[in-house]
Amino acid sequence: MGRYDFDTVIGRRSTFASKWDIGENEIAMSMADMEFAAAPEIRQALQKRLDNGIYGYTDVPGVWYEAYQGWWARRHGLQIEKEELIFATGVIPAISTAVRKLTYPAEKVLVLTPIYNIFFNSIVNNGRFPIECRMPVKDGEYNIDWEDLEAKAADPQTSLMLFCNPHNPIGRLWDKETLARIGEICARYHVIVLSDEIHCDVVDPGKKYTPFASASETCARISVTCFAPTKAFNLAGLHTAAVMVKDPFLRHKMWRGLNTDEVAEPGAFAVEGTVAAFTEGEAWLEEMCSYVKENKDRVRQVVAEKIPQVRITPSEGTYLLWMDCSAVTDSEEELGDFIREKTGLVLTKGTLYGKGGEKYLRMNCACPRALLEDGLERFVRGVKLYMG
Ligand SMILES: Cc1ncc(COP(=O)(O)O)c(C=O)c1O
Repeated sequence: MGRYDFDTVIGRRSTFASKWDIGENEIAMSMADMEFAAAPEIRQALQKRLDNGIYGYTDVPGVWYEAYQGWWARRHGLQIEKEELIFATGVIPAISTAVRKLTYPAEKVLVLTPIYNIFFNSIVNNGRFPIECRMPVKDGEYNIDWEDLEAKAADPQTSLMLFCNPHNPIGRLWDKETLARIGEICARYHVIVLSDEIHCDVVDPGKKYTPFASASETCARISVTCFAPTKAFNLAGLHTAAVMVKDPFLRHKMWRGLNTDEVAEPGAFAVEGTVAAFTEGEAWLEEMCSYVKENKDRVRQVVAEKIPQVRITPSEGTYLLWMDCSAVTDSEEELGDFIREKTGLVLTKGTLYGKGGEKYLRMNCACPRALLEDGLERFVRGVKLYMG
């Protein structure tokens, strides 16, 4: 028995949860937030802030910087200087700022696909072009096509790469060697790397994520990194993140960009939530990661037994499972709609994630076991019905 409760199913429809804006009989295993209450330590800190009664404008205090510095030094072996950190209201706002401030209109931005869909919005909505380097996959194992990456980085119109570490949706923890090689290629062609590390604290027990900026001096010099407590501690609605930039010139540009875009000031609960997560949330996080790992194992086991046609990509990080349905369908759009219509289970469809996402569905496993079993039963039933 752990110290914390991950088993209670909590209704979220009354909170206007985006993920649960679905039919009464439907259940969501889609959008990337969790069905667990935040750690009691975090809730107490937020309660204390709530009880003050005044929710006025808020500064970023010293304890906020220290919380990030302490957590990354202790857990991830990365030393961060205070001046290298900038508050941002979210990772996506920071990425959109980076696109606007670090590239010119009509330039090209590299992404390894399949990748988190909103990266495409940040690129396209700002009038830049996404350039997809599709990752080849063999027996569920994703790789980087280095020649392709180098050729696309060498294009003089390419100025930025949006990188995801760990990688959503495939759940991959990139190793130091791979990170350093990406850094070398990008540095050779003067491409800045934005490393989105929002999922970094959701890892299977015993696994480690490597910060991009720690892989080599080059990686540190050419990168902008986004951190946040929001995925690992289920705080996405607090709108709190950090941008870490080692290079002073790049940092100045990001700092100006975030301020120009007015996304550098915290809401009334952002600081308290972040500080409590990174200073008091470790025990909860460890238990949550073990619970989620058991959930992922359970899905793998049931799917392998009952619908082995669906192949789940091996992963070490995130609470997401990336499911290859190519033996079941030519269109995951159709399969996803069918499962939803017949069983009420809502999953995320792979084509959202760019090239290589076709025929895949993504399942979010960060939920109480009762909900997981319900979703799993619906999934198996839906796929079987679809196969006829
Ligand atoms: C890789 C990745 N980056 C960023 C976000 C969203 O970040 P934020 O809510 O801080 O804008 C998500 C949410 O799913 C994500 O998966």
